[in-house]
Amino acid sequence: MDLMERIESVFPRETEIPAAYAWPSPMDQREYLIQGKLHLWEGLQREIYSPVCVERNGELSQHLLGSMPMLTEKEALLALDAACQAYDRGNGAWPTMSVEDRIRHVETFIEAVKEKRNDVVLGLVWEIGKTLTDSEKEFDRTVDYLLKTVDALKDLERASSGFAAEGGVVGQIRRAPLGVTLCMGPFNYPLNETFTTLIPSLIMGNCAVFKPAKMGALLLRPLLEAFRDCFPPGVVNAIYGDGGRIIGPIMETGRVDCLAFIGSTRVADLLKKQHPQPHRLRSVLGLGAKNAGIVLPSADLDVAVRECVLGSLSFNGQRCTALKILFVHRDVADEFVSRFVSQVEDLPFGMPWEDRVQITPLPETGKPRELAEWVEEAEDAGAKVVNACGGIRHYTYLHPAVLYPVPPCTRIYHNEQFGPVVPISSFSDIEEPIRYILDSPYGQQVSLFGTDSKELSRWIDPLVNQVCRVNINSQCQRGPDSFPFTGRKDSAEGTLSVSDALRVFSIEALVAAKETGQNKKILGEIVKEGFSNFLSKDSPSTSIQ
Ligand code: G3H
Repeated sequence: MDLMERIESVFPRETEIPAAYAWPSPMDQREYLIQGKLHLWEGLQREIYSPVCVERNGELSQHLLGSMPMLTEKEALLALDAACQAYDRGNGAWPTMSVEDRIRHVETFIEAVKEKRNDVVLGLVWEIGKTLTDSEKEFDRTVDYLLKTVDALKDLERASSGFAAEGGVVGQIRRAPLGVTLCMGPFNYPLNETFTTLIPSLIMGNCAVFKPAKMGALLLRPLLEAFRDCFPPGVVNAIYGDGGRIIGPIMETGRVDCLAFIGSTRVADLLKKQHPQPHRLRSVLGLGAKNAGIVLPSADLDVAVRECVLGSLSFNGQRCTALKILFVHRDVADEFVSRFVSQVEDLPFGMPWEDRVQITPLPETGKPRELAEWVEEAEDAGAKVVNACGGIRHYTYLHPAVLYPVPPCTRIYHNEQFGPVVPISSFSDIEEPIRYILDSPYGQQVSLFGTDSKELSRWIDPLVNQVCRVNINSQCQRGPDSFPFTGRKDSAEGTLSVSDALRVFSIEALVAAKETGQNKKILGEIVKEGFSNFLSKDSPSTSIQ
C-alpha cells in the first residue's frame, strides 16, 4: 500500500477495533455535582464525538461517544452558591480544618482515583485521540503529581510550624486559602491540567467549581463519585455546558476569588473582564505559546533533529510547550531538513490504541481544514511541503506537514498552530530568530541547539529575560513537575509546579502579637490546648512558652 492509500485507510472498520480498547457504548452522562450530590440533568444534552472515525456499512463517521449535560446559568450559579457556602467567608469547615485532615481527604481521593485508571485512560484515547501510551502517562503523572503535592504540603507545614520573634513581635506565618476557585482545564491535558490546579487549590483550603474541557468531559465522569465521597459537600462542584453561557454569569457575581484557567488568551481576558472587581481576582493562567527551536551551526544534528521532531510533533503538536517554529542556521539547514523529514516520515500514524503510534486524528472541529489552509497559504508564499503527503487530510486526520523555507508573511510563521504542521526557516544571522522572539506576543520557552558553549551563553542571558525557560539541546516541555512552569507576555500568569501551585492558590497570613508576658501566655495556651487549627500544634519556639 502506498502512503496515500495508508492515509485513506487510516480509520478502522468497527470489527477491526480490538475488544480491549473498544468504546463500550454511548455514555449519556446526565450527572453533575453540586453540594455533595450528583444531580440528574433532564435538559438539553450535547453529543460528543470522538476524533476517531469508524467505518460502518462502507460509511466513515466520527464515533459517537455519548453526551454531556448542557446546564444553564441557574445550575452554574447554584454550584457557585454551594462553593461559597462551603467556604463561608473563610469560616467553613473546610477552610478552617487542620491541614492534616485536609490531607487525609485528598489521600482518600487519590486512592479512589487510582481505581478508575482504565476508564479514564480509555476516555483520553477516545475523546481526544491521545495515544494509549501517552494517555497512561497522563494518568500516572497526575497521580504522582497529587502524591507529591501532599508531600510538598507536609514540607511546607513543617517549615512554617514555628513562631518567629523579631523586634519585640512574635508571630506565626502560614499559608491560608484565597476563597472560591473557578477551575477550567484544557482539552489536550483534560485530566492532568484540571487536577494540577484543582487539587492544590482544594488542599490549601479553597472551595471550587470546576468545568471540564469541552473535549475531555466524559473521561472525568468516572471520578465524580470520588469527588462526592471524598470531600465535604460543596467543597468541590462540577458543572458542564457551554462556557460562554455558564461561566460568564459566575464571573459577573464577583464571588470568584481565584481563576485557574488553561486555554486561550482571548477567553482569559474575557473572563477577567467579567469580574466586577478584577483587582480582587487571583489569576492562574496557562495560555498560548509559539516556542521556537534555534539550531546553531555547531549543533549536534542527531540530537537537534531528534528533539525537534519530538518537540514539534508529540501528541500531534497539541501541547502548549510544543516547538511551533524552527530556525536553522543556513550552513546546516539542508542537512537538518533532510534528516528531520526522514524522521517525520518514519513516525507511525494511526489509531491511538495502536502499538508505537505517534500521529493520530485531531479532536478540534475543523482543525485539519484550517491547518491545511495555512499550509496552502505558505506554499503560495514560496514554502514547500518537504515530506511525502504532508498536509493531506482525511476526515479528522491531518498528515504532518513540514514546511520549508517559511517566509514571515504567512500565518504559520506567527500564529500558534496547535497541530501537526512544522514551519522551518533558515537564518544567516542569529539576530533574525532573536528578533522573532523579542517581537513575539508569547514568552514561554525556547530551545537552543549547539555545542559551542561560548556561543550558547551569548544567547542564554538575553533569552531568559524574554521567556521563562531556555532549553539547551532539549525540546521545550513542562516537566519535571518540580520545576517552575510559567511564561511571560501572553503566555501565562502565575507559576505552576508541585510546590508553586500550593503557593499560588494561597496567601500568607499571620497571627502576631507584641512580645509581652501576657501575649506569650495566651499564644502558648492556644497552642498547648490545640484551640486553633491555624496556630500550630507543633512545639513552638521557647519564646512563647
Ligand atoms: O499543553 C501544555 C502542557 O502544559 C505541556 O506539558 O510539556 O508536559 O507536554 P508537557
